Amino acid sequence: MCGIVGFTSRETSAVGPLISGLRRLEYRGYDSAGVALESPDGIRVYKQTGKVAELDALLKRELPEDERGKFTIGIAHTRWATHGLPTTVNAHPHLADGGSLALVHNGIVENYAALRAGLEKHGVVFVSQTDTEVLAHLIAAFDHGDLLAATCDALKRVEGTYGIAVISAKHRGEMIVARKGSPLVIGMGEKDTVVASDVSAIVAHTRQVIYLKDGDVARITPEGVDIYSLDNAPVSREVQEVDWDIGAIEKGGFEHFMLKEIFEQPDALRNTIRGRLDAAEGTAILSGLGLSPRELAAIRRLVIIGCGTSLHAGMVGKYLFESLAGVPVSPEQAAEFRYSNPIVGPDDWVIALSQSGETADTLAAVRESIRKGALVSGLCNVVGSTIARETGRGVYLHAGPEISVASTKAFTAQVTALLMTALKLGRTRRLSHEEGTALVAQIERIPDLIAEVLKESDAIAKVAEKYAKSDDMFFIGRGILYPAALEGALKIKEIAYVHAEGYQAAELKHGPIALLSDETPVVALLADIPGKEKTLGNVQECRARKAPVIGVVTADDEAAAAAVDDFIRVPRTSVELAPILSVVALQLFAYHVARLRGCEIDQPRNLAKSVTVE
Ligand code: G6P
Repeated sequence: MCGIVGFTSRETSAVGPLISGLRRLEYRGYDSAGVALESPDGIRVYKQTGKVAELDALLKRELPEDERGKFTIGIAHTRWATHGLPTTVNAHPHLADGGSLALVHNGIVENYAALRAGLEKHGVVFVSQTDTEVLAHLIAAFDHGDLLAATCDALKRVEGTYGIAVISAKHRGEMIVARKGSPLVIGMGEKDTVVASDVSAIVAHTRQVIYLKDGDVARITPEGVDIYSLDNAPVSREVQEVDWDIGAIEKGGFEHFMLKEIFEQPDALRNTIRGRLDAAEGTAILSGLGLSPRELAAIRRLVIIGCGTSLHAGMVGKYLFESLAGVPVSPEQAAEFRYSNPIVGPDDWVIALSQSGETADTLAAVRESIRKGALVSGLCNVVGSTIARETGRGVYLHAGPEISVASTKAFTAQVTALLMTALKLGRTRRLSHEEGTALVAQIERIPDLIAEVLKESDAIAKVAEKYAKSDDMFFIGRGILYPAALEGALKIKEIAYVHAEGYQAAELKHGPIALLSDETPVVALLADIPGKEKTLGNVQECRARKAPVIGVVTADDEAAAAAVDDFIRVPRTSVELAPILSVVALQLFAYHVARLRGCEIDQPRNLAKSVTVE
């Protein structure tokens, strides 16, 4: 949510790296963008509504190549509006002190109204509707010759979250950055230092990075990086190496990142599984959990928290843990959980699911669970992310960077990681050696089975063609396929802007069926697992109301295929794997519908990939 880039160099112009960094972060927000550049004659700012490409075009018009060399320090931002419309005035960077100080911000200043009123009393005139402008003026007000001290003084008065970068014409050659609740990473190049909201904007320059922690503030100069606490005490943070390179974040010949990420799933899942299965003992090796069999055996209840697609993966987790380990599970939407004064304690295991590891609601739920004494672990994709660090134990997905806003490979990797966790927990309880071994064999097949579903892409595109004009759809499934129905509906809402609802197949007749007509296709999840016959009964109810039905059916299940208007085939598999394969089919369905509707697939309107505000 909002992307920040900062760049300082001894010799290279900051303009190119700032724009390419913003392009990498565009998935975090894309309603406006801007840069501020330091030069011998002051700070220059360029802002533009719309995408980074439009800011780039503005710079091409207004800042000729031969002038760019003198700007070796700059900050940049791509915005996802929270306070104020997406206009040029509200775009970052925001200025203070007569235009000599510039700041970019990711997060929310919750007490901005009070701070703004206080500054206005001292004659400060605000030009934007944003909470961020308050921060710029506050830092300028505290600047008595030391920009780092001024930033600390200002931030001590801020309630809320921030990742910021500040430059000032009065402090040439330095950039101050700080974080609390919004991620910030510093890339340590040989001649350049890059700051960004996430490493994808850094790997083009260097793989040596420092992850700032909440409460850190850093002074970055061409000579190096010094990190302090807000109380001005020096702190030391380890330099770490990012284990993937630039190739991982390129489109690799696919038209969209989403399609690339859908097709990457066999490889991504091989990485999720690698080294984590013990075929001889019929269990999983998840050393990052740091839990002994005795500790696992003592767990009485599981709570799985997440938002969006991660929540749906958690809902699949409920079926997996309950059937394999016999442990009751509550999947909980993270924000609801966090504000519900949750009843959790030492007998409970809270698993936080988050691709980014930065989702504000999930992070807050993690902190509340830790406070209440629960055992808390993270299941994240982004290594070094805040949830991964604060939980201190967990399972990394190792699915590689996910760029497209709509989550795809993270879902299948999350379900697979949950399945391995359920296997491990199950083996401390009722799951026998044979059952464990059989499950290990199933899990090993997941990548190849997904590859089978991907072969159906063209056939799925044909089905999509028939239904791409529909503006309302229903997705139904039962048992472990119910969350898969929710995920299918979410995908098509997110990227194709189709109004879609996911329901338990049996629930449709308790109200929603009133909406069915020949204009409301129903996507029915009919993989051949227990419960399918009942869902086929619900399909009949839909067809009796003239609703066309698209079945996601097991490849050799001719009876199910004959019971629907159109079908998408998935390979025959066990109950545990059925939601993974069905969701891959629905990802492709949503993708093809969105493509046919001419939607902006990787950056859907109003959405952001990493939601670091409540
Ligand atoms: C945003 C994204 C969703 C994602 C959700 C949770 O809303 O648009 O695609 O599922 O955040 O993200 P997380 O990183 O916590 O999995």
